[in-house]
Amino acid sequence: MTHPAFEKLEKNFNQTKNLEMKTLFQEDKNRFEKFHLELDDMLVDFSKNRITDETFSCLIELAKEKKLERAIKAMFSGEKINTTEQRAVLHTALRNLSKKPIFVEDVDVMPEINRVREKMHHFSDSVRNGTFKGYTGKPFTDVVNIGIGGSDLGPVMVVKALKKYKPAHLNFHFISNVDSTDMVETLKDLSPETTLFLVASKTFTTQETMMNATSAKKWLLAAFNGDEKAISSHFVALSTNKEAVVKFGIDAENMFEFWDFVGGRYSLWSAIGLSIMIAIGYENFMDFLKGAYEMDIHFQNAPFEKNIPVILGLLSYFYITFYKAETTAVLPYDQYLERLPAYLQQASMESNGKSITKEGKKVTSPTGAILFGEPGTNGQHSFYQLIHQGTHLIPCDFIASIFSQNELENHQNVLLSNFLAQTEALMKGKTLAEVQEEGTPAHQLQHRVFDGNRPTNSILFDKMTPHALGRLIALYEHKIFVEGVLFNVDSYDQWGVELGKQLAKNILPEIEDKEKPLAHDASTNALIERVRTRRG
Ligand code: F6P
Repeated sequence: MTHPAFEKLEKNFNQTKNLEMKTLFQEDKNRFEKFHLELDDMLVDFSKNRITDETFSCLIELAKEKKLERAIKAMFSGEKINTTEQRAVLHTALRNLSKKPIFVEDVDVMPEINRVREKMHHFSDSVRNGTFKGYTGKPFTDVVNIGIGGSDLGPVMVVKALKKYKPAHLNFHFISNVDSTDMVETLKDLSPETTLFLVASKTFTTQETMMNATSAKKWLLAAFNGDEKAISSHFVALSTNKEAVVKFGIDAENMFEFWDFVGGRYSLWSAIGLSIMIAIGYENFMDFLKGAYEMDIHFQNAPFEKNIPVILGLLSYFYITFYKAETTAVLPYDQYLERLPAYLQQASMESNGKSITKEGKKVTSPTGAILFGEPGTNGQHSFYQLIHQGTHLIPCDFIASIFSQNELENHQNVLLSNFLAQTEALMKGKTLAEVQEEGTPAHQLQHRVFDGNRPTNSILFDKMTPHALGRLIALYEHKIFVEGVLFNVDSYDQWGVELGKQLAKNILPEIEDKEKPLAHDASTNALIERVRTRRG
């Protein structure tokens, strides 16, 4: 099989890889005009990338060669594109605000989605206005989400990002780690009478979540002399597994369902987002969905040359495949987006950290990049040194909102000046001649040179609103989808998390019972022995 677009792109890479972006900017006064896109108040500048006009058109041709258009249609129409699990991938249905039906195996999924959302609406209102009360009749002051992975990272990121929209009388907490410290430290200042637990687990079998939920139940029952009737006033479940929810002791009435066509790391739009809806209220939650829905419309309809997720996905693929860039950074210049990098680590790395193609063959090129990040300007005083002068090429996404929601003197101007300066510095660098001109002492000269030519995207929007956040998350979801199509991997399974889980199950009884014989490798045996002897 021939791949003319890929070969053309490869040829273009070989011709352009040594070009300097700063020269490209000097030569083409229209470069920014050509290489930026806008969607309402969101501007995406991708002009500081190592591409020429020809690279850009090769990338667009490649997307066509890889049948991206067909793949997008397949996802939105409910085809089972998660082939290894034989599932549709329809997180987009959760924010389908059109009146159009969406079918999975000939059944329109929209009525059920809308029914559960309405149930969430009533419930979140009743927690917010205090009509849904704890067992002793007190309104809730604290909502604790117990979940892990996609049942934690999305909700925690969004609740933090939209803190400005949270009512003052409600506090939100997230327990994910099976380390008891997480639970003990969270619950130590809470009162069982006014604490509501949301047990969030798609499968309702995840070891960490089930263990944490069981301990939370004990904590609650201890305060009510073991009166199990208290559970229905303090526990709700967000899950696809009704049987396990009921078995755990949560009333089916207190369950908010979702379905297997919603992947865990794409589930914050579903019942898993109940903590978000309680925190920001139904109307804001709808705005959040609307932002995502608008990105869905853009992604489905904009031609590839003007399609933001398509372009960001193509660029990422380009650096990973040709420049062998192994890492990427997401750098939000908005404190509210503090947890965005952690959220995107799962979204991206659990989706595209694969080495087997959809046809079951070993890939021949690298796939998903290692993602990291911190809010600006904290990162600047930490790892930016390596991004500026290290030996690795690290394409970065810089994200900022123009207006602060907590204006304090000149802070926002300083923040934005840093945001703008960083991408300029990464692109331009600093030559030896420039360093010399500054009168730098000889022993420092080489050390103060910046090669530059380091690629960045800038994503800039007005304000961190529910709408803007929904749009931003959907943008990344679709970018990850595009990368998956280009890498030809199943972005919606996660078999890579299974082996560790399995082995932990074998080791647990060996920690509990000191007499059990050990049959691991010498290192694992010795480590288990060490734990056994030190614990006595
Ligand atoms: O880490 C594996 C994983 O299956 C994730 O994909 C998922 O988000 C997380 O565990 C939690 O799963 P659940 O929601 O079923 O508890």
